[in-house]
Amino acid sequence: MSHITPYNTSDSKKDQVAQMFDNIAFRYDFLNSLLSLGIHKGWRKKCIKLIAGKKPAFILDVATGTADFAIEAVKLQPKKIIGIDISEGMMKFGRGKLQKLNLDKTIELQYGDAETCDLPDNSIDAITVGFGVRNFENLEKGLTNMLRILKPGGQLCILEFSSPRKFPVKQFYMFHFKYITPTLGKLFSKDARAYSYLPESIKAFPDNERLTAILEKVGYKQASYKSVGLGLAAIYLAEK
Ligand SMILES: C[S@@+](CC[C@H](N)C(=O)[O-])C[C@H]1O[C@@H](n2cnc3c(N)ncnc32)[C@H](O)[C@@H]1O
Repeated sequence: MSHITPYNTSDSKKDQVAQMFDNIAFRYDFLNSLLSLGIHKGWRKKCIKLIAGKKPAFILDVATGTADFAIEAVKLQPKKIIGIDISEGMMKFGRGKLQKLNLDKTIELQYGDAETCDLPDNSIDAITVGFGVRNFENLEKGLTNMLRILKPGGQLCILEFSSPRKFPVKQFYMFHFKYITPTLGKLFSKDARAYSYLPESIKAFPDNERLTAILEKVGYKQASYKSVGLGLAAIYLAEK
């Protein structure tokens, strides 16, 4: 998985990922909506409903980017939401959105790496990660560090792309990712590689069953997944 990197240079995957998201940050929200026709918004809403039952007071949104997941989590009326990311460029746009929505007191965005961030043990009720884990340099290290930060009984909710397996979604997806995604991505973001890295990284990422097994292996309990968007993405839920 880690051999798929944005720019195939000798820099670490982490540095390349941060660089890529800094490059495309100014177009990230626009391209997300254009390429998915807005479907991704419904998926984050579903995730938030899934963790609503335990009424989390302290929420951490890992790989927060432009803060869409953190903004959705406000519906749970938590005391505090912290968003962390390794791309300052993405968070700059996120902070702008928070100010406009008057949410900059509830949501705090700070530089932080999922794999090494040193939030205290057992301090967070729920962690969300939207389209982030695929980009981690070391997936198990990131999942283990998030487990450390979660309170016992706390929930991890991961939203991530999958490779659809069924006709005709699989064929549509392959066409979209081969022709439409790279063309529109290059045109609007000016980073030709970012939107060809996207399908490559999805292809190389563990499938639904494998990621669920990895969650259990690193110590999460009751790990499960649910496909959304006819298999285009999946929501993984697990507990400490
Ligand atoms: C596709 S964006 C997702 C943004 C947002 N969560 C969403 O749902 O739209 C992926 C983000 O993951 C961040 N990222 C990648 N590896 C990370 C890591 N190890 N720790 C924190 N953030 C990371 C990137 O910088 C990028 O902003």
